[in-house]
Amino acid sequence: MINFGVLGAGAIAEKFVSDLKMVPQAKCVAAYGRNLMRVTDFCTRHQVDMIYDDLDAFLNDPGIDVVYVATPHSLHAEGAVLALQAGKHVICEKPFAMNKAEAEAVFRLAQSKGLFIMEALWTLFLPSINRALKWIEAGEIGEIKAIEANFGFVGNNDPNGRLLNPALGGGALLDVGIYPVLISNRLMNGVPKQIRACAKMTDTHVDGTTSMILTYENGVMATLNASIETQMVNSLRVYGERGYVELPSFWMADEAYCHLDAKMLSFKADPTENQQQGYHHEASALCEDLISMKTQNDKVPHQFTLNLMETLDRIRKEIGLVYQMDMKA
Ligand SMILES: NC(=O)c1ccc[n+]([C@@H]2O[C@H](COP(=O)([O-])OP(=O)(O)OC[C@H]3O[C@@H](n4cnc5c(N)ncnc54)[C@H](OP(=O)(O)O)[C@@H]3O)[C@@H](O)[C@H]2O)c1
Repeated sequence: MINFGVLGAGAIAEKFVSDLKMVPQAKCVAAYGRNLMRVTDFCTRHQVDMIYDDLDAFLNDPGIDVVYVATPHSLHAEGAVLALQAGKHVICEKPFAMNKAEAEAVFRLAQSKGLFIMEALWTLFLPSINRALKWIEAGEIGEIKAIEANFGFVGNNDPNGRLLNPALGGGALLDVGIYPVLISNRLMNGVPKQIRACAKMTDTHVDGTTSMILTYENGVMATLNASIETQMVNSLRVYGERGYVELPSFWMADEAYCHLDAKMLSFKADPTENQQQGYHHEASALCEDLISMKTQNDKVPHQFTLNLMETLDRIRKEIGLVYQMDMKA
């Protein structure tokens, strides 16, 4: 059994821990929160035995094998470092860190300790995404010519909340823009050669809406949008020579379509999966990796995260979005 401990028992931890119950090799055994009443509620809802409001005691619990870091963005690298220093494996929510320099330092520590660490890019483990990648890799649509993807929603407008507060890494790019960027890098197997981007900034000085054009080595352009202030048509379209692949709500996709001249291929996730939200796929992969004594995941190796962080850093440079954590880099 692989025993998980949750660092940051908030909204995403609720979903992750619910889905973890579907993974036979995994169990959530502990959670830490700054507020004892809130973390006790979380643990009661999810039948988690060990409840902590003392971070050191949580980190030193010998019953925890893997720490799931689910705090706001600006605390990811620090949380991962503390867990690794305590000898725990780590799965860390997206974005893995605030910038590439922070990410490199965390990976160096994990490597020096021989511990497993991965960014929780759950999208890359979804069956619909994998089916779409297989269609594309099998040449169904021919060579990729262009990519389009949006992720926009109306977020909480609390200026101190994690979406708008720069001290917590607020802004559209790091919260939702990371999904269109990661899927483009995955489709192109690399980082963009050129980046153009513009943003509309909020009163709190983070990006409310960002538009990007990423051009890759082979000339393919990815036109991407992200917003925390408007609901967008949130689909991914990958255009090829002979047709296009489309995934509605691609970051959490449970369906995929391949539109060709003479036919349409379609895929729908197993309806029994509707009881879950899709996080069990990444959790199962992590458990298999740990059982096989691996220190990286094949779908989200360290280099994929470093490439993603580098791309996000370059987009931020284009839109003039600087966080206080960049000053330390
Ligand atoms: N993979 C996905 O699908 C997905 C979806 C949503 C979010 N996320 C990621 O998960 C992370 C958390 O997002 P969330 O929506 O779960 O946020 P959230 O509901 O605010 O939860 C974050 C938790 O972190 C803890 N925390 C520790 N220090 C904090 C601080 N200084 N300020 C605020 N909270 C602090 C809080 O718990 P205590 O107050 O109990 O300490 C809070 O409940 C984000 O980085 C986000 O990118 C991923």
